Amino acid sequence: MNEARERWTSRSSFIIASVGAAIGLGNVWRFPYICYENGGGAFLIPYFIALLTAGIPLMILEYGLGRKMQAGAPTAFAMVRKGAEWVGWLSLMVVMLIFLYYPVIMAWCVDYVTYAFNLGWGADARTFFERDFLQLSGGPGALAGIRWPIVIGLAVVWLAIYLCLFKGLKALSKIVFYTVIIPWVILVIMVIRGLTLPGAIEGLKFYLTPNFSVLLNPRVWLAAYGQIFFTLSLAMGTMIVYSSYLPRKSDIANNSFIVSLANCGTSFFAGFAVFSILGYLAQAMGVGVPEVTKSGFGLAFITYPTAIRLLPFIPAFFGILFFLLLLTLGIDSAFSQIEPFVAGFTDKWKFNRKRVLPLVCILGFLIGIVFTTRGGYYWLDIVDYFANTFGLTMVGLLECIVIGYIYKASKMREYVNDVSEFSIGKWWDICIKIITPVILGISFILSIVTLIRKGYGGYPAWATIIGVVITIGIVVMSFVLMSLRGKTMKMEASETD
Ligand code: ALA
Repeated sequence: MNEARERWTSRSSFIIASVGAAIGLGNVWRFPYICYENGGGAFLIPYFIALLTAGIPLMILEYGLGRKMQAGAPTAFAMVRKGAEWVGWLSLMVVMLIFLYYPVIMAWCVDYVTYAFNLGWGADARTFFERDFLQLSGGPGALAGIRWPIVIGLAVVWLAIYLCLFKGLKALSKIVFYTVIIPWVILVIMVIRGLTLPGAIEGLKFYLTPNFSVLLNPRVWLAAYGQIFFTLSLAMGTMIVYSSYLPRKSDIANNSFIVSLANCGTSFFAGFAVFSILGYLAQAMGVGVPEVTKSGFGLAFITYPTAIRLLPFIPAFFGILFFLLLLTLGIDSAFSQIEPFVAGFTDKWKFNRKRVLPLVCILGFLIGIVFTTRGGYYWLDIVDYFANTFGLTMVGLLECIVIGYIYKASKMREYVNDVSEFSIGKWWDICIKIITPVILGISFILSIVTLIRKGYGGYPAWATIIGVVITIGIVVMSFVLMSLRGKTMKMEASETD
């Protein structure tokens, strides 16, 4: 047991921090639009199957690994086998890609909170978002200068991330209570508002009526597994490092179920806020719910603001509330992406956390400025696609192989059962050794085939190639980081711990 390691102040702090990491923009912005694009209610079936066969098993795996090895991802994997360290680094390289663009979406929210006071997006929220706010250039080839309002928003977000993290776990244990409870209160208000609007029921019908024919489409299944990874913050190193701060004999199995179900329950609940408003908007526009929006990203910044403007009663209040909801949801996910990254370096080289953290925040801010340019939106979309479709899938697959076959799933299960409030059965071994890696492997191969055949998002081929180069780059970088000699990399978690 590594006694010097920082600790959560209580079990509930750990659970709430994990729930806060998992519940993020993904629940209110990504989940509804992925659900919307993949058949509405029908999507919920593959989504919950993905939760049970991959989400919860991997959550148990990551909590088990972090808790046992008492280290962030690279060191924890190195303790399984020296050569596996790069899997840990790879997860940190993927999370780095995510934390470079994620705060930029939050920066948009900061700006939109200010616009909401006078519903500044006007009658045509799309034109406002694309032409006035982002001032989109012709394509990824033209960065075409920085959008200063977004840079200012970005600086605010990074400062908030730094302030939440710099005092360490004791302060974080308190902060997470607010960053989880505040968005939940707002969400309840938004759901009540949505459900009491005319047309809401049509939106909910679309959300909840299963259309079983889409279940035959593999794309729907891949989207479900991808979303489960993103939403549970798996394969990002987050859950490994969070559980490495758990004290001795902490439960793993029950915590994994609580966190995963709380997160997915929140997504499901958030769906009511979003689809009721979509129903309202469809009625106001005189179209069907499936026709009401075309854009994924645009759901939060185009469709929702359009609907808010049409609200009969204090629309500005609900506009402010909606973007505050996104901000408060996003902040604890954002800092949960920085923590594993910082811990990776401090664990291996015993760097001083107080020095590494500001450096990471400043560099994150500076590099993130690329996404604040007029062409930055395209790059954000490209990096989001590569990080999620290839990065997270690759890490998840490797985690299953390393723990399932090298460490041995049965050994990890025994360890988890030793410390947990209830025991997990052999089903877990089957998920980790067969079901999850097979699905992730198929998903990975299909994504490569689609990429080769169609490229991505209608962008020029060279932009896709840059995406591929970035992906290969992070794999190489992980090997480099692994091969650098660490300082006092002691195997601190003994087998008997
Ligand atoms: N799990 C985080 C989210 O859903 C990354 O936004």
